[in-house]
Amino acid sequence: MTSSSPAARYTSVAIALHWAMALLILFMIWLGWNMDDNEVRYQLHKSVGITLLFLTVVRIAWRLLNPPPPEPATLKSWEQKLSHAVHIAFYALMVIIPLAGWLLVSISPFQISTVLFGAVDWPHLPFTSGLRQGNELLHGIVENVHSKGAWVIIVLLGLHVAGAVKHEFGGEEGVIKRMIPGLFGKTSPPSPPARGAVIAFGSSLVLFALIAAVPLIGSAGAGPGPMQSSVAAGPAGNWSVDYAASDISFSGVYDGKPFGGKFENWSAEVSFFPEDLAASSVSVSVETGSVTTGTKLYDSTLREAEWFNTGAFPEAQVELSNFEQTGEDTYTATATMTLKGKETSVPLDFQLTINGDQAMLNGKAVFSRKALDLGQVSDASGSWVSDEITVTVSGAATRTG
Ligand code: HEM
Ligand code: HEM
Repeated sequence: MTSSSPAARYTSVAIALHWAMALLILFMIWLGWNMDDNEVRYQLHKSVGITLLFLTVVRIAWRLLNPPPPEPATLKSWEQKLSHAVHIAFYALMVIIPLAGWLLVSISPFQISTVLFGAVDWPHLPFTSGLRQGNELLHGIVENVHSKGAWVIIVLLGLHVAGAVKHEFGGEEGVIKRMIPGLFGKTSPPSPPARGAVIAFGSSLVLFALIAAVPLIGSAGAGPGPMQSSVAAGPAGNWSVDYAASDISFSGVYDGKPFGGKFENWSAEVSFFPEDLAASSVSVSVETGSVTTGTKLYDSTLREAEWFNTGAFPEAQVELSNFEQTGEDTYTATATMTLKGKETSVPLDFQLTINGDQAMLNGKAVFSRKALDLGQVSDASGSWVSDEITVTVSGAATRTG
């Protein structure tokens, strides 16, 4: 094979994948070393990493269907073997490193969700939830595979570039030309078989969809059923809540900034008698999975086992009791919240204005995350997310009896 042979080049797909992935991998190593505690960078790292895993599957499928051009005959046998070994090691690392990263976030006790490019919920690896607690050894191994793998890439890259440069400029037949897009017009890439291209892309997409579908199916099966029944239940008690005009929201401090959201689905049974507070009671059921914050990453993370654990605990209960009037239309009550099998009671102060059969309510209660086992692995001390979470209720109701 001479350097002027028209077939002595990689296909343009292989060339495009090689350079795009080389740049992305180097960017990823830099990013991995410079993420600190920056949440945006973590999410970007995970998004690009999963994209690279996808591209690797495409690339390997493409290569199997479009074998590379033969090496220049001037390459010594050991050089050919070393070059092949480096290529195989590169491919192996391009699979192992992102898989280790994915495993790392799947078994992390912090349970931070992965939302690809801020838009697509990416599941944890299947069958890993049992490995989250008390597995320091496994965590250490996976973390080392991921971080040391990056160093192996760097060492191999040294050999890879040295080999390419030696054979390009060492008076032998060039190899870099094989991997440069059409700069040397004399050599044209072998035209890839159209059917091969379709099969390569098709099969890699199917393979990747399968990898992604396993955890998706797993999490769908384990997921909670919607709390339709209790939300749709007709009002009991003597007041009917106007849900369209009512809100249960919460706020706290996250990373030094205000943070909050609300619950979309909840239902309340209200028995309230201003003239007989002792006979009054309010019972609220909140669908934990209906939490929204306006940011997909937080919405997904709050559903994880570390926070609301919506799969195992789809519902939170709040019971109001011990009503006392504190002013003309101000009251206080004890709010007892049950969530994740934990119970805590705090005062709820509210203002209530009753106009004929119409009532308007505004109230506030402050709960402790610790008492409800929320985010206790990620941040038990409250240095990152405040321990105190203020729940605000505003509502309208009509007297029915
Ligand atoms: C080719 C793809 C990837 C490369 C080259 C890469 C590279 C790196 C590097 C160099 C670090 C710094 C390690 C250190 O502490 O020294 C890192 C950290 C990390 N990577 Fe990746 N990564 C890739 C893919 C992924 C993927 C797909 C995920 C998750 C879905 C991920 C999750 C993480 C996490 C969570 C850390 C922080 C680990 C820690 O602080 O202990 N990475 N990565
Ligand atoms: C992290 C970065 C890189 C990775 C992971 C990587 C990976 C690879 C792999 C797997 C192949 C073999 C393709 C095949 O036959 O299937 C290859 C070929 C090639 N790479 Fe890279 N590469 C990287 C960076 C570079 C750089 C910076 C250069 C610049 C000199 C380069 C030059 C070449 C050349 C000339 C070839 C084709 C010649 C040959 O078969 O050795 N690569 N690369």
